[in-house]
Amino acid sequence: MNYDLKAALKREAGFLMRTYDRLPVLFVRGHGTRLWDDKGKEYVDFVSGLGACIAGHCHAEIIAAVVRQATQLIHVSNLYHTRPQGELAEILVKHTFADRVFFCNSGTEANEAAIKLARKYMRTVRGEERPRVVTALRSFHGRTYGSLAATGQPEKAEPFRPLPEGFIHVPFNDVRALEEAVDETTCAVLLEPVQGEGGVYVAEPSYLKRAREICRERGALLILDEVQTGMGRTGALFAHQHFGVVPDVMTVAKGLAGGLPIGAVLATEEVAKGFVPGDHGSTFGGNPVACAAALAVLTVLQEEQLVENAALVGKYFRERLQSLQEKSTKAVEVRGLGLMLALELEGADARELVLRCLERGFLVNNIGERILRFLPPLSVSTREVGGLIEVLEELLAD
Ligand SMILES: Cc1ncc(COP(=O)(O)O)c(C=O)c1O
Repeated sequence: MNYDLKAALKREAGFLMRTYDRLPVLFVRGHGTRLWDDKGKEYVDFVSGLGACIAGHCHAEIIAAVVRQATQLIHVSNLYHTRPQGELAEILVKHTFADRVFFCNSGTEANEAAIKLARKYMRTVRGEERPRVVTALRSFHGRTYGSLAATGQPEKAEPFRPLPEGFIHVPFNDVRALEEAVDETTCAVLLEPVQGEGGVYVAEPSYLKRAREICRERGALLILDEVQTGMGRTGALFAHQHFGVVPDVMTVAKGLAGGLPIGAVLATEEVAKGFVPGDHGSTFGGNPVACAAALAVLTVLQEEQLVENAALVGKYFRERLQSLQEKSTKAVEVRGLGLMLALELEGADARELVLRCLERGFLVNNIGERILRFLPPLSVSTREVGGLIEVLEELLAD
């Protein structure tokens, strides 16, 4: 394929809204942990579509499931039953604390639904007026209005005011602040077990445990946003399993269908009573093709022991980042869990490093100017990690 990238980029810039500051690369093919651009150059992917391509790119089993389903039935809406949606719900229930699932199309939609569910449950099942949701500062829950109001980064919401009411933000990992914020007006505490977009900050185990207790003591629900941490990313199928903390509600998206759009809200039988027909819905939610892909993802995770690989390679990756930190004064902190890792920088521009890594055939992501984030497919090898570390060592040499 002969493609004039510069001309194509200039052309699309005339038609697309200016929502993304994209990197100057056009991908045409993917396989496993690798991507190829339009010139045939190969890259090792440590971004995986922002954490979505959990089983790697274009996995044969996922392709087969998608093709099989797309050949049979692509879409009918939720007016009718379709087979993959029910089967996926059953498997998710089997693997989690949850008894019931609602499907949507993205992480932000899953959080919207979870917030609606919490408020509705309190009002109609418990008969209590508890509209408030407590979330953490630096959190990220999405960009639609409810999730944006929940997000603890006021600068992201500022230009879009007015926001929905009833959201309170407290410092993350601060038990005292949570104790003070949760009261008889709180329907839910919404937390990420590892804050992702905020910079990859892991919850203290004692914090999550206490959050669980506070919610129980005061009659509020604990909603965990596992949109980024879920589906094995942190070395457990869901991150809360590391902490021994069981939520009432969990939101999942990103990795669930391995790169196809999907989101899900998982809840206990009791809380799920909050939704009755007509309360919530989605034209595409639980779409047969997305659900067929998700069923294949779950099979691949198990067959290839990808969650175990995430734990093992994640540990190795973390150790290598830590030894890099010891060698370079520009690398100041390593954070994360499993294959959700970050390197905090000082005196080096993260975006510039992303560009340098791209030149060297490695995709990494930056959060702001100081944080490099790594979210590779769960099939990444220690050898690939070693390759990236070598490049980073060179780029961050004092
Ligand atoms: C924890 C968390 N919640 C919600 C979202 C929003 O997901 P989506 O972009 O699919 O709407 C993200 C996206 O990065 C996320 O990391």
